[in-house]
Amino acid sequence: MNEFVVVANRLPVDRVEGGWKASPGGLVAALAPVLRARAGCWVGWSGAVDEPVAPFRFDGIDLHPVTLDAQDYEEFYEGFSNSTLWPLYHDLIVAPQYNEQWWQRYRDVNVRFARATAEVAAQGATVWVQDYQLQLVPGLLREMRPDLTIGFFLHIPFPSPDLFRQLPWREELIGGLNGCDLVGFQREADERNFRALVGDDNNSPRSGTFPISIDPAAVQVGSPEAVAKLRASVGNPAALMLGVDRMDYTKGILQRLLAFEQLLEEGVDATLIQLATPSRERIEHYRKTRRQVEEAVGRINGRFGSVGRPVIHYMHRGVSKQELGTFYAAADVMLVTPFKDGMNLVAKEYVACHPDGDGALVLSEFAGAAVELHDAYLCNPFEGASILRAMREALDPDPERMRRMYARVLGHDVHRWAAEFLQEVAR
Ligand code: ADP
Ligand code: G6P
Repeated sequence: MNEFVVVANRLPVDRVEGGWKASPGGLVAALAPVLRARAGCWVGWSGAVDEPVAPFRFDGIDLHPVTLDAQDYEEFYEGFSNSTLWPLYHDLIVAPQYNEQWWQRYRDVNVRFARATAEVAAQGATVWVQDYQLQLVPGLLREMRPDLTIGFFLHIPFPSPDLFRQLPWREELIGGLNGCDLVGFQREADERNFRALVGDDNNSPRSGTFPISIDPAAVQVGSPEAVAKLRASVGNPAALMLGVDRMDYTKGILQRLLAFEQLLEEGVDATLIQLATPSRERIEHYRKTRRQVEEAVGRINGRFGSVGRPVIHYMHRGVSKQELGTFYAAADVMLVTPFKDGMNLVAKEYVACHPDGDGALVLSEFAGAAVELHDAYLCNPFEGASILRAMREALDPDPERMRRMYARVLGHDVHRWAAEFLQEVAR
């Protein structure tokens, strides 16, 4: 029995042939260090389909796997979570699909998560439910276990009431959150959207704004030797630029490539490394995004590259923390250009790799990170000229701006985030 239980759709580890690897995404990157530092357990899905896994311990955390079958994967995960809620909450960058069968399956899977949680939580325990995939869990759990303290944190944006009201199941979803003692959001704007929707009636839970962050200890800043080697391997360009994202249509990767192409047209000596982790690969909009990105990489390299010297180095895979730390430390300019993003931890990880004021961050106004990192070179990703302008500015950066951002990120790490939320939920 556990006094502290985290519930998230994903476990911090993901099933791969013959073993486990770290799960993709910011939720896991942020929460894993929190759970390692606090005794507790994690209820979540293993990433495999139709493969029951017994509870086990991994990297200092007790894991309680929930099994998803092929239909859960299609209707709960790819369907309601990632083709209904994800696009709706990211302000309709693509059109959400409303499907009654997906909704039924979302409810079923949420019931399973709630049951699994009720089984492992001690009397009076604190349960912390994470993200849009599990919005019904707090209400279900409240009925099963009135003794629990229940918190919920939404890692992605919360849309304006007018958008939210499109949802045929809007009342049930809000009802699920009413089971909480506290609902947390990334930005004040998200919390305001939620409050505008639920008002201040007695059924609605307390809410708060808690911008998530990184564990600086988990970021491995590349050594000067590794950085020199990397830069040499790409031909020591005057400016090395970097993008690191899941391959997701919210991230604005194509728009960034097009702005980079214009920069090259202006004759700037720059090279771009773009890493993109595979994500939600069977969903059509994700496939389309990948096709467009890969087509643009090929075209731009065809125009500006030469033998042994491409202008864009593109990798469609995850890299180790150590490699990532070298890329971050080596990059003169980090490009973070989402159309909408709950926070964007990549921006904070990059800043954490630049303690001495070198480097520059180009950051979308529509990333949650822009609230704290207003010293970045901000841009509007919907306007190509705006990305280009920010890139040009970032080529001649003011070191004071990076120093201020570094102080902010290090002073507000993920342990502080968790402590503030958990203190408030217990109040
Ligand atoms: P999201 O949660 O939407 O994926 P974030 O920027 O908040 O976006 O978090 C992404 C996380 O995934 C970061 O911790 C980042 O380091 C990691 N990541 C993204 N792409 C890669 C990659 N190609 N290799 C390794 N880690 C990656
Ligand atoms: C974002 C979401 C997380 C999700 C992650 C990776 O960070 O907020 O809830 O886990 O993306 O996406 P995936 O669909 O692979 O879990």
